[in-house]
Amino acid sequence: MSSVKRIGILTAGGDSPGLNAAIRGVGKAALGCGIEIVGFRDGFRGLAENRMFELSSATLSGILTVGGTVLGTSRDKVHRMVVDGTATDVRDTIIRNCRKDGIDVLVCLGGGGTQRNALQLVDAGLDVVTLPKTIDNDVALTDATIGYATALEVATEAVDRLHSTAHSHHRIIVVELMGHRAGWLALGAGIAGGADVVLIPEIPYDVEQVAEAIRARVRRGTNFSIVAVAEGARDRDDARTYREAEARKDAAGSLEEKDAARAEIAGLQAAHAGNTMRLARKLEELTGLESRVTILGYVQRGGTPSPGDRLLATRLGAAAVDLVREGRFGMMVAARGPVTESVRLEDVAGRRRTVPPDHPWVEAARRVGTCLGD
Ligand code: F6P
Repeated sequence: MSSVKRIGILTAGGDSPGLNAAIRGVGKAALGCGIEIVGFRDGFRGLAENRMFELSSATLSGILTVGGTVLGTSRDKVHRMVVDGTATDVRDTIIRNCRKDGIDVLVCLGGGGTQRNALQLVDAGLDVVTLPKTIDNDVALTDATIGYATALEVATEAVDRLHSTAHSHHRIIVVELMGHRAGWLALGAGIAGGADVVLIPEIPYDVEQVAEAIRARVRRGTNFSIVAVAEGARDRDDARTYREAEARKDAAGSLEEKDAARAEIAGLQAAHAGNTMRLARKLEELTGLESRVTILGYVQRGGTPSPGDRLLATRLGAAAVDLVREGRFGMMVAARGPVTESVRLEDVAGRRRTVPPDHPWVEAARRVGTCLGD
């Protein structure tokens, strides 16, 4: 057993439902075994600026069902935080602050970027434990991330609701779902909501194939279609250009080359904005059916967490405290079915869990005749 007396906790990256349930899970489990807990505001920025406050049983009560994060969040990076207009490595400042304030272990709740930040702090000498949260469900080596279950429910309900209006007006409705560069949310909500076409980043699409699937439905007498498209989905040409830019980034020898490749990728991403509108217009042109677009956006991230997310957050939160007590640092708590495991941060950071092309959900979608655009 470690001699940890005080832990700090922060949430970073995009907010997601269930974050407060996880903060409460960690906090109550810690207080329950005599460990003090303090919260840092606004992610790694608040940590660097030492904006902390004591978490007590009273502050942890009543937050289980609340959306967002009571700690606040940001997308700052510990090795490149913008301070007075300059990208600054704040790791030493963070470690000094933690030592001064008697923080023995830092618990970080976040997605891929947070896992990378956490590893940077581990490498700089801090004891850290992390939890996976993101509506994108794309953190490596865990079956589930906190927030995905709720986002899936919200997105599925939206796809359900779009059916009646698409049907009534004999239209194509193209609905864009979040997910960053993974298709879990679009695929999950697309299957659960019975979308006719599901387009995800892992399967580059051909717009002609999508149009043909819609025309085939019309030939069978169904003159409406729902197209669920992940925000990161790309057609075959764009996917190739993007892959090549990524390869240049990976092969970059110097920081300058890497930055140039990053700028190129950012340019491609900017050019990609509006893609869903372009897709809808193209489908209208190719099928002769009127089309409309719905971008679900941040509604997928907001509001009360589902029971599934509350359960996941509570169990992962309590398990994080077990790791702290056992002195097992540099680890992320992971869900493996109903079991909770720990995985090494260095095996998680920098990796993204995407939808395997032979995933059972992909196969099931194909079996029921859903067009995946390929
Ligand atoms: O990672 C969660 C997520 O909601 C992604 O699905 C989306 O691409 C991104 O965050 C949006 O980021 P921001 O909150 O910075 O607009």
